[in-house]
Amino acid sequence: MKKIYTAVFISGRGSNLKSLYNFSKKKISPIKIDLVFSNNKSAAGFKYAKEKNLYSIYLSDKNIKILENKLLKILKKRKIKLICLAGFMKVLSYNFIKKYKGKIINIHPSLLPKYKGLNTHKRVLQNKEAYSGCTVHFVNHKLDSGKIILQKKIKVLRNESIKKLSKRVLIEEHKLYPKAITKLFS
Ligand code: GRF
Repeated sequence: MKKIYTAVFISGRGSNLKSLYNFSKKKISPIKIDLVFSNNKSAAGFKYAKEKNLYSIYLSDKNIKILENKLLKILKKRKIKLICLAGFMKVLSYNFIKKYKGKIINIHPSLLPKYKGLNTHKRVLQNKEAYSGCTVHFVNHKLDSGKIILQKKIKVLRNESIKKLSKRVLIEEHKLYPKAITKLFS
């Protein structure tokens, strides 16, 4: 089976990148991670990508248009057909998303459409929600608002801390992202 050339965009820790990489190495995986892009040179995930000999690029430019055009050229050259955002903290422009319409997906640590944006776990706990979880969704030009591909719901524990909840959700994220990709391509 010909694998789908995939780029992973990161900004930090990169634990979802790790889980996607491990998944991509399995025979049943429809994707091959061909490129890792980071907007943060010192991201731990970027180090990991290099250790795994993944083609890793760091680009920075105050002018978002220039940066994205450089990136688009590279993606085109490497025949990237899927972009997975994994803790990528920059908002992509309308133009960029249009060019990769329906081919950019993201993982978010909440049960979307609830708790878009940052500090999800803190807000979930403040509002005494009974459930939280994570969502893999398509990326459109509105923050955390594209069509949902897959979601995992977990129960919030009594007196749970932000740290504990984020840890438990993260464990689910690592399973959900590969599952969502499998769903998309099967
Ligand atoms: C994850 O919780 C992800 O859902 C969110 O940012 C975090 C990134 O973690 N978008 P990591 O860099 O993949 O470890």
